[in-house]
Amino acid sequence: MASGKGFAKVILFGEHFVVYGLSGLASGIKNLFTEATTKKVDSGIMLIDNIYNRVDNLKEDENFINARVLKPVLDELNIDNIEITLNSSIVPEHGMGYSAALSVSVIRALNNEFNLGLTDEQVNELAYKCETVSHGTPSGIDNTCATYGSLLHFEKNMHGEKNKIEILKLSKPFYLVFGDSGKKGSTKELVAGVRKRKEENPEEYDKVFEEYKKLVSEAEDALLGGDEKKVGELMNRNQELLVKIGVSIPELDKLCKLALENGALGAKLTGAGGGGMMISLVENEEMQTKISQVFKENGFDSIKIKIGE
Ligand code: PMV
Repeated sequence: MASGKGFAKVILFGEHFVVYGLSGLASGIKNLFTEATTKKVDSGIMLIDNIYNRVDNLKEDENFINARVLKPVLDELNIDNIEITLNSSIVPEHGMGYSAALSVSVIRALNNEFNLGLTDEQVNELAYKCETVSHGTPSGIDNTCATYGSLLHFEKNMHGEKNKIEILKLSKPFYLVFGDSGKKGSTKELVAGVRKRKEENPEEYDKVFEEYKKLVSEAEDALLGGDEKKVGELMNRNQELLVKIGVSIPELDKLCKLALENGALGAKLTGAGGGGMMISLVENEEMQTKISQVFKENGFDSIKIKIGE
């Protein structure tokens, strides 16, 4: 028996911009994770998925989404005769990096079960291969957060070499509240949409990208300096840029407005947009409860998290 965890993620700064090699600031969420437990068996590769309540033989049902996503892991690690049980406190399809967390948890459990000696870097690389199955050419930010579970600076290497990953240590925790738009966005389509509009309006998009570059560097300093007011302001500016590149929707705009009107320090969408989640930064636990309540009164689900501990 062995087990492994993969963490949920929150992108504080950088969705879409990271696809083009600009810096992103994102964090794994320590108390939201997918956990895989493994047990050696006599034959087959069984997956007991307690999230979707399915039991599958991954060798027989190769079209099942989990079988496709996990294929790079099973092939590369040459795995057989195993039963994998999946549990998760991350809700799938909510822009919290469920698929990356799932892959990381399975890789880590197999690593422990078979004493494979994989490093974090190797776990992350393999999880990236799984991510490409469902997301085409993702930047890699999700699997990196799922692997390390910490706040990090992420920069995709545009020449196919190693991405820049730096763990950031904060002097105090930051309190955040996710608001759920209740709508679903397709990351693949949203990324493609930004690319198309960027190609059609190069000058306008260059300006936005230049502004983001300055903003994210200020944001890193503000985070490291514990300046939550500044981080909040920069989140608001980042949201304006995300609106400009066309990935916000009225529900996300409304959630941001509600958060700010009720005392949040900053608010922006998080993840690909077009639906999914937004995040608001607040001063303390009391404010987390207040903002959650406001979201609830307006018909939106929420999740309270802390990062940088
Ligand atoms: O859709 P999500 O939550 O996995 O976020 C993706 C972030 C993007 O920058 C839009 C895409 C990527 O691969 O980085």
